[in-house]
Amino acid sequence: MTGDRRGSQLLGLGHFQPERIMTNEELSLLVDTNDEWITSRTGIRTRHIASETDTVTSMAIEAGRMALADAGVAATDVDLVIVTSVTSHDRSPSSAGRVAVGLGMAGPGIFDLSAACPGFEYALGVADMAIRAGSATTALVIGSEKLSEFTDYTDRSTCILTADGAGAFVLGATDRPTVGPTVWGSVPHLLDGVRIDGAPGEPRYFAQEGRSVFRWAITEAAGHAERAVTAAGLTLADIEILVSHQANLRIIEPLAEALHLTDKIVITDIVESGNTSAASVPLGLSKAWHRGDIPADAPALLFGFGGGFAYAGLVVHTPARA
Ligand code: ACO
Repeated sequence: MTGDRRGSQLLGLGHFQPERIMTNEELSLLVDTNDEWITSRTGIRTRHIASETDTVTSMAIEAGRMALADAGVAATDVDLVIVTSVTSHDRSPSSAGRVAVGLGMAGPGIFDLSAACPGFEYALGVADMAIRAGSATTALVIGSEKLSEFTDYTDRSTCILTADGAGAFVLGATDRPTVGPTVWGSVPHLLDGVRIDGAPGEPRYFAQEGRSVFRWAITEAAGHAERAVTAAGLTLADIEILVSHQANLRIIEPLAEALHLTDKIVITDIVESGNTSAASVPLGLSKAWHRGDIPADAPALLFGFGGGFAYAGLVVHTPARA
C-alpha cells in the first residue's frame, strides 16, 4: 500500500449509540431465554436500543459529526457522503442527503448503499475507488442501523442478537494510500440465509438460518479475509487489529485463530453492543480508537459478512496521529 498512486487514507472515526442499554435479564422477561444461554452462545451481555426519536439518519449524523471532529475536517470540505443501512426508511431524499444537510455540507455527492451486514466494507471500497478515480477528495462513510424496528421480540432466536447504533469514517485523498483494495463476493447457496421477512404492509422482521451462516463463517470467512490482506500487499503478520462483523463472539474468536491473530488486538464490541449489522465494524473500531486502546497508523483488517449473502474485506490503517 505504498507508492505514488492516488488513493485514500483514514483521517477520523466516530460513533453513536442510543442511551438505552438492554440487558440479557430484560430479554429473559420477554422470551424463554436466560443470561447463561445468550452469553455462552453469542458472547452478548448488553445491547443499545434506540428511542423513538433516534433514527437511522439521526444516529448517522451524530457518528458523522464525531468523525469529522476527530479528523479535523470541516463539513464544507466533504465532497462525498455514503450511508449504508438495511433498516433505513429514507428512500428519497437519501439518508446521505439528510446527513449532508444536517451537518451543513456544501452540496457533496450523496447516495445510500444497501449490502446489509458487510455494507460498511462495500461503502468504504466505493468511497476509496471514487477517490482513486478522482471523483472525490474527502468522503464521509457511515454505517447506521435501527435493527430494533425490524426485530420480533417474541422470537428468542433473533431478538437476543440485534441492536442499534452507528459508526463513521472520514477518508481523504493521499499519494500514499493506506486503504484497500476491497475484496468482495457473495455466496449463492446462502442467498436467503440472512433476510428481512414480511410482505409489503406486514411487519418486517430480521430472520436467518443461524446454523448454516455459522458454519460458513467458521469454515470460509478466514480465506476471504486473508485475500484482502494479500490484495493490500501485506501478510497476516503485518496486521495489528482484527475488526470482524460483530455477529457472534463464537465466530470472532475462531476467525482470529484461523488468521493467527489471537495475539493482536481483536475487537469484541459485540459483548456490550450486540449485532448492529452495517454499523458494527466502524462502531467497534471507533469506540476502541476513542478509548485510546489502539495505536495510530496501525494496519486493521476489516471483514464483514451477512445478508445477501455477501461478504467484503479490506485493510485500513488507523489515522496517522493519535
Ligand atoms: N435462549 C434459549 N434457547 C434458545 C434461544 C435463546 N435465545 N435461541 C434458540 N434457542 C434454542 C433453540 O430452540 C434450540 O433448541 P432445540 O435444540 O431444543 O431445538 C437450541 O437453542 C439451539 O439453537 P440453535 O439455533 O442451533 O443455536 P446456535 O448454537 O446455532 O446459536 C446463533 C444460534 C447464535 C444465531 C448462531 O447460530 C449464530 O451466531 N449464527 C450465525 C449468525 C450470523 O453470523 N449471522 C450473520 C450476520 S446477520 C446480522 O448481522 C444481522
